[in-house]
Amino acid sequence: MEQHSFSLKTQYICITVAIGGLLFGFDTAVISGAIQLIKTQFSLDTAMEGWLVSSGLVGCIIGVLVTGILSDRIGRKKTIQLAAVLFLLSALGCTFPPNFSLLVVARMLGGIGVGMASVISPMLIAEFAPADKRGRMIAYYQLAITVGILLAYFSNALLIKGAEGTFTSEGLSWFFKTEAWRPMFLVMAIPSLVFLLLLGRIPESPRWLVTMGQPQKALAILQTIRMAGVAEKEFEDISRAATKATADNRSVLAAAFRLPLIIGIVLAVFQQFSGINAIIYYGPSIFEAAGIDKNNALLFQVIIGAVNLLFTIVAIKWVDKYGRKFLLFTGLTGIVVSLVFCGVLFYTGNTQGPLLLVLMLVYIACFAFSLGPVTWIVINEIFPTDIRVKAVSICTLALWIAVWVVGQFFPWLIENVGPAVTFWIFAGCSLINFVFSWKVVKETKGKTLEEMENVFIAPH
Ligand code: BGC
Repeated sequence: MEQHSFSLKTQYICITVAIGGLLFGFDTAVISGAIQLIKTQFSLDTAMEGWLVSSGLVGCIIGVLVTGILSDRIGRKKTIQLAAVLFLLSALGCTFPPNFSLLVVARMLGGIGVGMASVISPMLIAEFAPADKRGRMIAYYQLAITVGILLAYFSNALLIKGAEGTFTSEGLSWFFKTEAWRPMFLVMAIPSLVFLLLLGRIPESPRWLVTMGQPQKALAILQTIRMAGVAEKEFEDISRAATKATADNRSVLAAAFRLPLIIGIVLAVFQQFSGINAIIYYGPSIFEAAGIDKNNALLFQVIIGAVNLLFTIVAIKWVDKYGRKFLLFTGLTGIVVSLVFCGVLFYTGNTQGPLLLVLMLVYIACFAFSLGPVTWIVINEIFPTDIRVKAVSICTLALWIAVWVVGQFFPWLIENVGPAVTFWIFAGCSLINFVFSWKVVKETKGKTLEEMENVFIAPH
């Protein structure tokens, strides 16, 4: 029966933890609307502007590293609570920074929160979800990222529109009109606070408790989130795996973990080398470059965000039914084809008209039901508990470095080799990912985390 493995409490935990994804999406998207206003206010030169934007990414990298060390020591729950506190501090700090340097510091704090959430949120979901629903529950996290991105677009757009109005008091006029970038950041304080409050009611991960020698607590928690019988069986599997792992005292760099590590790193890097963030964040400039007028370009950005969100729901419905590899194949096929044709449109100068928008939407839809969620799902389910957080941190770090690489090189590529070749480079990378997913990635649908060892590590 459904409820045997899928209690309301488990849903509460997974949805709460997924809010980390919403803050990740919001934090990374909000800056795109605020940057022009901040630039004018602080008279930033290009180097300072670059520093403000990249401070978030530097924070992400620190956040991933911190989580790799902290979450085994202080526990998953405290680590994710710390991420929520950092989001809140960053929202307040970015709203009222006394000077530009402290604005950079506050952005970096938010970045640390994003880095931490990008490791701990999907990993906690993987540890709490029942095996047959794990894919869809980690996809909640991807859905939350897309909601966060869209929320940031909407709230930025509303605040910019609102700034055109007249205000009754000088203070309000200063806050919402003259310095409208401040409320853009303040909006993030609301979900951060909700996140922090809801996290207070989630239990610690039973898998972590077992590795810390607290089996009774772990069993008690499992009994509150699974039906009788199911809880005990899962507890036995977790304990058996933990005893074996303690006896072996394994290192994440041991040869036995080479295959899952390669899979995790390649999927993470090639998720980014599909060009997703270039399309999401530079979408409007791509349309402008194609000759579409500025107002429509912004509207298209919202359409892209909405399609991204809607098609993630397809992954939620299908990933546990048809499997990770099926989604990767179909999605990557659509991604490669749409990117190749986008390149052809630029190459032949046929960028006017609706075809470019249609192709970009096909691309986003395919990303949203495949590469987006499946990358996070696979990274978080293929490693055994004793090394999970370290291995997931290594893969997530690779992902953030790839975000940085694309951010650095995309504008350069557009200027030097042009949009057509740039699209074809992304298509080529996605083709490599297709072949890799076909030949090397293994299907993990329906397996418990403890069974993964047999998929990847034991000889067949
Ligand atoms: C990626 C992000 C991207 C987002 C878009 C995530 O899976 O990791 O880099 O911005 O999807 O929805």
